[in-house]
Amino acid sequence: MSLPTLTTERLVLRPWKKSDLDPFFKLNADPKVMEFYQSTLTRVESDALAEKIQHDYAHRSYGFWAIEVPGVADFIGYVGLNYWDLEMSFAPCIDIGWRLDSSYWGHGYATEGAQEALRYGFETLQIEEIVSMATTGNHRSHRVMERLGMHHNPQENFRHPKVPIDHPLSLRVLYRLAREKWLAHHKQSPIESS
Ligand SMILES: CC(C)(COP(=O)(O)OP(=O)(O)OC[C@H]1O[C@@H](n2cnc3c(N)ncnc32)[C@H](O)[C@@H]1OP(=O)(O)O)[C@@H](O)C(=O)NCCC(=O)NCCS
Repeated sequence: MSLPTLTTERLVLRPWKKSDLDPFFKLNADPKVMEFYQSTLTRVESDALAEKIQHDYAHRSYGFWAIEVPGVADFIGYVGLNYWDLEMSFAPCIDIGWRLDSSYWGHGYATEGAQEALRYGFETLQIEEIVSMATTGNHRSHRVMERLGMHHNPQENFRHPKVPIDHPLSLRVLYRLAREKWLAHHKQSPIESS
């Protein structure tokens, strides 16, 4: 099993390279990028995360793709699908997530990459439902989820099982998107497909 390279209008979603480790550390050390995580990462932690990402997708046919923007940057962050099996009412589940260098926010790159990851998940892998989770204050992420057509039910807000209950990052929102809904929205009309 391996992670395929996917392309969109402006992006290449690809397996990771050794040269990604420096720019990955740069973004993981940026407090703006890491505002909704418990801390920024050290070089060792950042490299270990890149290693885990590559290990995970080597064992499945999906994971977090490295994002390249041809003509702009070799690596701006990651987007992709992740398997979760923690103690949460909706788990086990497959979640879509992203983390981009803040220099590349505000261009639509996260949404464009995530749309392709959803297409791959629903069309190629035939996943029935993809969810997305974020802390309640992470409005930039919520906007990406909404642009993707995902649905949030406030009654499904939950506490992350690995974060202390009194921690400000404990409370999370859950967005859902069913394959059926995605297919209905992306089905080409006879005129478009002729
Ligand atoms: C969450 C995150 C990926 C969102 O990045 P983003 O660049 O805001 O999201 P998008 O790629 O969807 O870009 C949308 C923005 O680009 C703008 N934009 C500019 N040109 C555009 C284009 N050609 N096409 C689409 N959007 C464009 C949109 O207007 C929108 O701006 P707005 O949000 O101010 O209205 C980014 O903030 C991030 O990496 N955060 C840190 C990591 C993190 O929190 N991850 C999630 C943990 S759960």
